Formats: sequence, structure tokens, C-alpha cells
Amino acid sequence: MCGIVGFVGREEAAPILLEGLRQMEYRGYDSAGIAVRSPEKGLQVKKSKGRLQALADLTHNGTDVSGCLGIGHTRWATHGEPNDINAHPHVSENGAIALVHNGIIENYLEIKEQLARQGVSFASDTDTEVVAQLLEFHYNECGSMLEAVGRVLRRIEGSYAFGIICSDYPNALIAARKDSPLILGYGENGNFIASDVTAIIKHTRDVAYMNDGEIAVLTENSIDVFDSEMTPLEKEHSFIEWDVTAAEKCGYPHFMFKEILEQPEAVRKTISPRIRDGRIVLDDISLTAEYAENISHIYMIACGSAFYAGSVAKYVWEQLLRRPVEVVLASEFRYSDPLVDENTLVIAISQSGETLDTMAALREAKRLGGRTLAVCNVVGSSIAREADDVLYTWAGPEIAVATSKGYSTQLAALDLIGLYLADLLGSVSREEYDEILTELQVLPEKMQQYLEHYEETQYYASLYFNHDSIFFIGRNLDFAMGLEGSLKLKEISYIHSEAYASGELKHGTISLIEPGTLVVALGTHGPLFDKAMSNVVEVKARGATVLAVTTEGFREKMEKTADAVIAVPETHRLLQPSLGIVPLQLFAYYVALQRGCDIDKPRNLAKSVTVE
Ligand code: BG6
Repeated sequence: MCGIVGFVGREEAAPILLEGLRQMEYRGYDSAGIAVRSPEKGLQVKKSKGRLQALADLTHNGTDVSGCLGIGHTRWATHGEPNDINAHPHVSENGAIALVHNGIIENYLEIKEQLARQGVSFASDTDTEVVAQLLEFHYNECGSMLEAVGRVLRRIEGSYAFGIICSDYPNALIAARKDSPLILGYGENGNFIASDVTAIIKHTRDVAYMNDGEIAVLTENSIDVFDSEMTPLEKEHSFIEWDVTAAEKCGYPHFMFKEILEQPEAVRKTISPRIRDGRIVLDDISLTAEYAENISHIYMIACGSAFYAGSVAKYVWEQLLRRPVEVVLASEFRYSDPLVDENTLVIAISQSGETLDTMAALREAKRLGGRTLAVCNVVGSSIAREADDVLYTWAGPEIAVATSKGYSTQLAALDLIGLYLADLLGSVSREEYDEILTELQVLPEKMQQYLEHYEETQYYASLYFNHDSIFFIGRNLDFAMGLEGSLKLKEISYIHSEAYASGELKHGTISLIEPGTLVVALGTHGPLFDKAMSNVVEVKARGATVLAVTTEGFREKMEKTADAVIAVPETHRLLQPSLGIVPLQLFAYYVALQRGCDIDKPRNLAKSVTVE
């Protein structure tokens, strides 16, 4: 996903921009650029394909570019291949206006043709350059940059976060947003815009979140915000709590490894503040017993790993609430004419809180009258702010593209909400409520128990990293957990992998099993352990190599059949995936490491996809 950073103030902008872009590298990108305005040199634009280091080399770490007003961008290509020309910032034909953009302009082609008929020539294949040229057209027409921006925003359709500077305005940075996140930063020596907090937290923790349709005018001493009618708005400030090192590797080889090891603490921070005197207390959400009684339908909507967290929660919630729960891919939900009314509860699960498919599905659910609850990890994110209620996971910033603590804290949050609702509905006994709550509170230390012996998983990864197709099989909660384990492996090691419900093997998939095929057999769900064992026997009879994941109590039994066994501590059967997922994350990590993959920034992937 693209990253935007901008600064106007009393310091050189280029080093601030480069550092901000470096902090956003984790979002995934293929080119980068900056534009800085200086009194002596006017508008200076530097951009290059490839890693940010190429831009730093091009500008001698920004020292070649002077000025205290600038914008920067890391581009994740949507329109136009990754190259120097298509990289942002894009400049108007007369060279006076520079613009960076995150999002997609749906009607850029018709605007491009219209401008071309008026003699405008284009250097790139991007939708963004069309906006820069349209801005010049309106600016020439009305003579005011703010008015020109307003006219452009009324003309274009699609999603955007814009950063704009103009050589005629030496002390002004203009920003606008619709669907793509953009944050305002209030600093001591100037003011900032950024796609996410990591880009500016070293300079300020005092931020405000732009809403759709808003335009901001930043100078070194002020930030003025207007709505689409140019009515001035007062913005509520937020103070960013987490420490700067939280978004740094701190000596670990990869962010993903650091974040896997951070899971016990992340889960503890998500659960503990919400349990008081043996009861779940969810101050942040306003679901009442009366509302819960009237729930007729529950949807969970999400993408990627968040969808797989919902797949686990479906089993948990149906056990606890004895109500049907439907988990739907957000990209499917929004176009499926979903059955939503005022008695439908829609849970939107999103680590970043910015995934466009999930945001669009959330808006569709609200349009249909549903009650929406977001589970997000980023405070003030778009999905968090648009849902009726939000329950934050306190995982801290997650930098690796392939989520780990984001997923496991989603599981914990969904377990909490499910138990809370079951209690409101009276569908769970006091005894089971207490048992699950007790186990929820000791999840962190049980995760840590396994993590004390992760070398065993590292060893198995060194045995099995050379397979080019790996199957995950499991039943019930193990199957749902296997979906995420398989995705982790695909995302970072690029090995083809699929997760199958073990009972399905005999209905087709088993034809794929041949001598030497690696099967990761998941047998942590106690009630179906014997079934899991029989499936291990079934695939071994076809020559498969089996790496089993089970619980300590079943290790000995499983070792009689499987080629390799990883065991995790026991917990309540509904919470077992929270423990079983950790070896699957580490297995994927070490396999990818053995294969020399770019673990924190896998090819073609972005941390959060804010485009369709
Ligand atoms: C993908 C990420 O782009 O989006 C996944 O690579 C993530 O890790 C998925 O699970 C959904 O993202 P989010 O932020 O909505 O949970």
C-alpha cells in the first residue's frame, strides 16, 4: 500500500521525508520519491524505482534537496508499471504543482482524454498525474489553490489521500482524503501529514485523523481543516501512546520474528484490561442484553488473516451463543446483496482498520441497517471510526506484512466478545464462563511455554523447507486454524499450500497425496483427536511425510504415527487455536528463512490494501 508523508516548518524537509518513508517501508512499495520547495531552487522533484535506498543515494540522503516544505511517497503500483516516470510525486505540466496520492481515481481516463483534447500532454501512465494536471487547469482558471483543490475533488471519483505543494505557496501544504487514511501531525518545528503514525512519531505524538471529504491547509504554525463546502472544522486531537521502539526491530532479524515473540504480551494487553473481579467488562462497546436477545443474524467480515481469525471465531461463537455465525470475505460480502437488517450484528475484523474491501463491506452493512462492531489494532483508523462500536486489540504497531500478533490478538478479542455476548444471552453456564475466562487469562504464559522451545519447530523447518507443495489438514477448530497456518506459509515462503478439512480428503484431495508429500496434520482439538490420528494414518498410507501439531497430552500417541510432532500446552478446547497457531507461524517463518525470502516485505503483498 502506498505511503504518504509531508512537512512544512522550520527544518529541512528532505531528511524528515526520507525518514518518514523509511518508517513506512513495511507497507510494501516498488518506487519512491520526494518533492521539496525552496526559495532559491523552487520545486525540486526526485524519484526512483526500487527500494528507498535508491532515492537516498539519488539525493545524497536528502542533502541535495533544500527547503522546509515537501511531500514524499512510496508507491505500490496500481496504474502503470513500477518505474521512475510512474513514481510519485507527479508534477503539473508547468512544473508548479507537485502531488502525491494513495488510492485509485476511477474516472481518470475520461478526465485525461478531456485534458488531452485541451492540449495537455502526460508523462506517465498513472491516474495520479491526471489529478496534478487537472489541478493546474483549475488553478489557472480560478487563481486560488484551495479553490482549485475543491473543484478537483468535486470532479474526480474514487479513493484518495493527497499531499499537494505549489511553488506559488512557499509556506503551505494542502492535504485531502477520501477512503485512504491521512493523519495530521502537530509538531513543535512544523506540521505534518502522514499515511500512518509510524512516519512521524519521532517528531510528534499530537495527531488528528482526517475524515472523508476534508481538506487541510498546513503552514509551519497552523493547520486549518475544511469540509467539502469549505466550512472550517475543529479537529479532535489524539495523543499516540506507544513508544518509538515499538515500531523498530530492536535487534531482531525480522519484524515478523519480533512480533511472533511479542504475542504473549500483546494478548495479555488485549485481555487483562477487560477482566475485572472475574467478569468481562467491555466499556468500549455498548451491546446490551436487550440488543443481544434480538440478534437474529451474525456476520463476520474481513480479508486475509483477519478472515481466518473470524473462521476460528465462528466455531467459538456458535458453541457459546448457540446462534448461527456467518464468516464472509469482505470483498464478497459487499457484492452479495447480504441479508442484513436492524437485528443483524456485523463484526468487521481488521488489523490496520484501513483495508478498503472491509471498509466497503462495513459501509454496506450500515447502509442496510445492521449494527456494526469493529475489531481493530490501529486507534483512530477509518474502520474503527465508522463502526458503531470498536474493540481495539492492544498489539502495538505491527510492521511485518504477514500478521502474527495482529491475528492472535484478534482471536483473543473475538473470544472475549463471544463470551461476553453468551453471558448476556445466558447461553453459557457460570462454570464454563469462569473456566474459559481463567484459561483466557493464562493464554499468554502458555504461549510463552511453547516459545521457550521453538527450536524444535526451527529444526523441522530445516528438514522440510524444500517441498514445493504442503498440505494442512484438520477438523473443526484445527481446520480453521490450518487456514491461517497455510496462508502464513504461502505469504512469506511462496510455497504452494492448501488447508483442507480432513474429512474431505477421501472426497478428492487425497488424490494429490503421493510418496514424500508433506502434510501438516493438526490435532490440537481434543474432542476429535482420534479422527485426526486416523487421517494421519490415511495420508501416511499414501506415502506422505507428516508433521503433526498437537497438545502435550497427545504428543506420545501422535509420535507413534507421525514423522515429526510439535506439541503445545493444553487449554480450553475453544481457545486451543490461540496456542496451536504459534508453531505454524514459526514454521512458516523458518521455512521462508531457509529459502532466503524477504520475510518482512513479501513480493507483491502490502500490509494493508486500501485499493480494490
Ligand atoms: C493483507 C495483509 O493485505 O490484508 C494481511 O497482507 C491481512 O496480513 C489482510 O490479514 C487484512 O488486513 P487488515 O489490516 O484488514 O487485517
